[in-house]
Amino acid sequence: MEQQPIYDVLIIGSGAAGLGLALELGSEPRIAIVSKSALEESSTYYAQGGIAVVLDEADSVESHISDTLNSGAGLCDPDAVRFIVENGRRSIEKLIEYGVDFSRDENPENGGHQYHLTREGGHSHRRVIHAADATGRAVETTLIERVQNQPNITLLEHHNAVDLICMNGRCVGAYVLDISQGVVKTCRARSVALASGGASKVYLYTSNPDGSTGDGIAMARRAGCQIANMEFTQFHPTCLYHPEAKSFLVTEAVRGEGGHLLLADGTRFMKRFDERGELAPRDIVARAIDHEMKRTGDECVYLDISHKSLAFIEDHFPNVYKRCLEFGFDLSKEPIPVVPAAHYTCGGVITDLNGRTKIDGLYAIGEVAYTGLHGANRIASNSLLECLVLSAAAGQDISTHLKDFPEPPELSPWDESWVRDSDEDVVISHNWKELRHFMWDYVGIVRTDKRLERAQHRIDLLLSEIDDYYGNFRITSDLLELRNLALVADLIIRSARSRKESRGLHFTLDYPERDETATSPTILDTPT
Ligand code: FAD
Ligand code: SIN
Repeated sequence: MEQQPIYDVLIIGSGAAGLGLALELGSEPRIAIVSKSALEESSTYYAQGGIAVVLDEADSVESHISDTLNSGAGLCDPDAVRFIVENGRRSIEKLIEYGVDFSRDENPENGGHQYHLTREGGHSHRRVIHAADATGRAVETTLIERVQNQPNITLLEHHNAVDLICMNGRCVGAYVLDISQGVVKTCRARSVALASGGASKVYLYTSNPDGSTGDGIAMARRAGCQIANMEFTQFHPTCLYHPEAKSFLVTEAVRGEGGHLLLADGTRFMKRFDERGELAPRDIVARAIDHEMKRTGDECVYLDISHKSLAFIEDHFPNVYKRCLEFGFDLSKEPIPVVPAAHYTCGGVITDLNGRTKIDGLYAIGEVAYTGLHGANRIASNSLLECLVLSAAAGQDISTHLKDFPEPPELSPWDESWVRDSDEDVVISHNWKELRHFMWDYVGIVRTDKRLERAQHRIDLLLSEIDDYYGNFRITSDLLELRNLALVADLIIRSARSRKESRGLHFTLDYPERDETATSPTILDTPT
């Protein structure tokens, strides 16, 4: 008989949201963190620019709120925005206490703080605290060191959560594939938190690591949660264009510190699209680049900060400078080629401001969740902020109510007695490629009804093929991710088809104007 471990809190994901939650819960509860790769492998680790927070005396919470609402194009939930922005400073102070070494600037003219704050698109003040251009690495490694030192936390690396287990409307655990052993374990828990990140791997080109396959969104959907605003995928305007760079991100802070976007002939073009030029919100910059690439037939545009000194570049962007050099581009001497790539999933599992979903005992925090903060377009550096504030709120909520959460009974183990090994792995990888290609071509930066309809036909077919597969063959991580990506792609396409206007990150040639009455989030019916 399989041993079924039991935890107070089972956390799926080890980025800023998952680790932040584990630390907030303290040293008493029995916690497990499940992570499908090595612990640090997450979008969090690769975050560059920083975390938006009001520290400067010349800045204000009201201004941060107003910039967030503007960027969100009328779809943010104002209460969520206020809650997250107001709690930002406390979250940053906690990170500093934990030991995150943010870049300093002891300039006496700084308004009441000792940190260097950078500027990013859509923000009307310098308010992005950062650790040079590798903020995520500093945050992730600091949090990992702390969870590793807590004996009440079990770390399950290379374990892939397959599905949530719910009984009588309550989440009581999850089935988890131990990748190295090839067995599915039944993990019981009094509460479960999805902290599994976004779904940008649904697109051919993405700034995200391979694990961003929307698993948490798909699991929550299958369990009956409501999912909102999936049509709003953010495309980051500047990923390095190089066949081997795997869409390496070039932080927006390069533009924040004076970088220009150029066409191949050296002309600047952003002012033609928006008076804020290179620092317009990301949806505008990405669309402008897409437009110029289609108009000129060029495969990329260029980002130029070579007018700054080498010392400035090495000081502010050591990581980007080094990576670009590895690909043969010297940021201090020449413009570098860049293209947009899928970067952030603004939609997700609907939660309240304690991270609670509509299923008892199930929480969702970080990029997997939809709190209402981002609306139709996330403003730069608000996502790590959301991870930190919501992991603290969820941690406090769980701590307060844990004593009332029932201990789950023995559960039905995963049954694969009748399952065969597949000799058709090639089909899985073919489906993966096909999915990511047609999502890029038909559901990308610029959409039309016809393109979305084409995408819908293809996803319907893929979903039925995957259904045949799943349940007949032994599961692997590739099959699990494909199944989740296909479900998420379907949610994106259906959400996009239902929005008959252009707003924020959703732009369609058939309805190029904003419909001032379409101010509700897109919520797809829950499956029956
Ligand atoms: P992640 O950090 O992505 O962590 C998800 C975790 O879940 C991973 O550990 C993953 O392995 C695990 N997981 C997923 N599925 C499963 C499963 N089925 N079973 C088990 N484990 C699973 N935001 C900012 O605010 N500022 C920035 O400067 C910034 N820069 C960025 C740069 C890059 C290159 C990228 C990709 C993103 C950037 N973002 C930035 C966005 C931000 O990093 C993410 O939104 C944020 O880190 C998400 O954190 P998370 O904890 O929700 O998820
Ligand atoms: C960047 O550094 O450009 C990414 C910032 C973000 O996605 O918030």
